[in-house]
Amino acid sequence: MIVAITNLKGGVGKSTITQNLAVCLAQMGYKVCIVDIDENQNSMSWNGARDESLPEITVVGAVEQKGFSKAVKSLHRDYEIVLVDGTPSLSAMTTSIILNADFILIPLRPSAQDFRTMDKFLSRYNDAVGIKGEIPAYFLLNEYDDRKVIHRGIRETLEQNYDLPFLQTRIGSRTIYNEASVEGMGVYEATSDEADKARQEMVNLTNEVLQKASTLKLVG
Ligand SMILES: Nc1ncnc2c1ncn2[C@@H]1O[C@H](COP(=O)(O)OP(=O)(O)O)[C@@H](O)[C@H]1O
Ligand SMILES: [Mg+2]
Repeated sequence: MIVAITNLKGGVGKSTITQNLAVCLAQMGYKVCIVDIDENQNSMSWNGARDESLPEITVVGAVEQKGFSKAVKSLHRDYEIVLVDGTPSLSAMTTSIILNADFILIPLRPSAQDFRTMDKFLSRYNDAVGIKGEIPAYFLLNEYDDRKVIHRGIRETLEQNYDLPFLQTRIGSRTIYNEASVEGMGVYEATSDEADKARQEMVNLTNEVLQKASTLKLVG
């Protein structure tokens, strides 16, 4: 299956979530690769820092919009799961990413800035659904803390205002996400007290995505 991790906003955790999902899926034995669309090539550098003793994850760099569909389909012949680390710009590429995805994750932090661009993204998404038919898409709360009244308030507002569902899994704000990323790892591979909670979140996220994908017959 082709999973796009996308949102028009930068800094919401697209690359972090892509890399961590890739690590969990690889550790579970899936053949997985990442297509890094973002100009800053965050996932490419992450893979460059990755130790050779860790499970290998293929990361393919920027692809031209014209060749994107072909490139992703061709990768999908060799890899069971292709993760697309999406671009934060509202370009033709955004539509291509949405159209070529079997499953979309939209990371979002509980901050007003993060959903200001959401209407534009959702309008692209709705156009794509008009062309292709149903494309399963889920919001994923990142750097979220359910104990904070303001976070809960924003989540409730989002749930009331948008038609797309939220994943049950929510990701907390933890420095281990940043530390692991710098070393080319997923939190699943990191060892520290803080890593335990982050690892559990990522296992939950991976299982939830796989379970939804299995219901949709996207994975076996
Ligand atoms: N859950 C989290 N907890 C702490 N830091 C995070 C978390 N998610 C992302 N970050 C940090 O926020 C910054 C932006 O994340 P990134 O994944 O690069 O976003 P994007 O790809 O959407 O631009 C990075 O420095 C990353 O390490
Ligand atoms: Mg990124």
